[in-house]
Amino acid sequence: MGFARTCSVALVGVEGVVVEVQAGLEPGIAAFTLVGLPDKSLAESRDRVRAAVVNSGAAWPQKKLTVGLSPASIPKAGSGFDLAVACAVLAAAELIDPREIADLVMIGELGLDGRVRPVRGVLPAVLAAADAGYRQVVVAEQTAAEASLVPDVSVLGVRSLRQLIAVLTDAPVPEEDPPEEGRPDPMLAGLSLAGTGIGAGVFCGAGGGGHVPDMAEVAGQHLARRALEIAAAGGHHLYLKGPPGAGKTMLAERLPGLLPPLTPQEALEVTAVHSVAGVLPPGKPLVNTPPYCAPHHSATMASLVGGGTGLPRPGAVSLAHRGLLFLDFSDHPLRVRVTR
Ligand SMILES: Nc1ncnc2c1ncn2[C@@H]1O[C@H](COP(=O)(O)OP(=O)(O)O)[C@@H](O)[C@H]1O
Ligand SMILES: [Mg+2]
Repeated sequence: MGFARTCSVALVGVEGVVVEVQAGLEPGIAAFTLVGLPDKSLAESRDRVRAAVVNSGAAWPQKKLTVGLSPASIPKAGSGFDLAVACAVLAAAELIDPREIADLVMIGELGLDGRVRPVRGVLPAVLAAADAGYRQVVVAEQTAAEASLVPDVSVLGVRSLRQLIAVLTDAPVPEEDPPEEGRPDPMLAGLSLAGTGIGAGVFCGAGGGGHVPDMAEVAGQHLARRALEIAAAGGHHLYLKGPPGAGKTMLAERLPGLLPPLTPQEALEVTAVHSVAGVLPPGKPLVNTPPYCAPHHSATMASLVGGGTGLPRPGAVSLAHRGLLFLDFSDHPLRVRVTR
């Protein structure tokens, strides 16, 4: 009977919990059972993992196979456990050395062809792994930069299961085509938020880049400008009231320019929330300027406060964490909230 264990991370809100992935092989009719409160997408992991292992050139063990995710009491969602499940199975079958993976944390989805795909929430997952004392993580290559933001953790970014098996067995690492460029990954570009109503009617930016509206463009309005400066300095809420055309929107849009850059600790916090929402811009893993969120006045409740089943996604209120939530409701009084 073969047994192996490795680790992955379950997300609970925007926090991670390290999950031990155990695989046991017993003689008997070939079967694959996954236990430990998996949701639908995780239950499908069985089929993805089997196809990925076979298509990576490894033999699938023809025995009674049980994979357990513990602690079993935490509901687990998503496809980020695939990589850990595949390696635990291969180690239980002694195709890789179980000792090589026992102290690793693996976070990544597997394609049927064995490619490793990125998942949401890698930063909070790696933060949780580091807190739990793990020092080595394996993630999809596209999320390696994000994972590397966590200090004192060594990150291995892989393109495919074949590459990871080669690294773990000290074999020459095969070349793989880079992930497709040009077409942004819908998961990382935040398009998948559409299903939850998040994204529709919500503008959320992480600041930086581009032109930041400047308070110098406002003529006069000394009292209002002073109020904005005090709100920015003290992190106060601000309510602007006045006739149309008075300059309320213009003033409020210039508030982000007054906010100081995030401290390294704040930047990690904000990036973790944006990572779980899947709205981190590719190639720019760290959000280090205060985020700015301006939901449309028709935005749904879910898009504002977040929601969804399984792995809830943050809404505009959470995405504006440590930045600015700007509610410009034409038929309603206009409110601005500095969320710090
Ligand atoms: N104090 C000001 N300095 C410069 N331009 C202003 C000022 N107040 C209003 N404006 C101009 O008027 C336009 C309308 O202002 P806006 O902020 O949309 O008003 P409100 O939101 O109060 O209805 C602005 O885009 C800007 O071009
Ligand atoms: Mg306005």
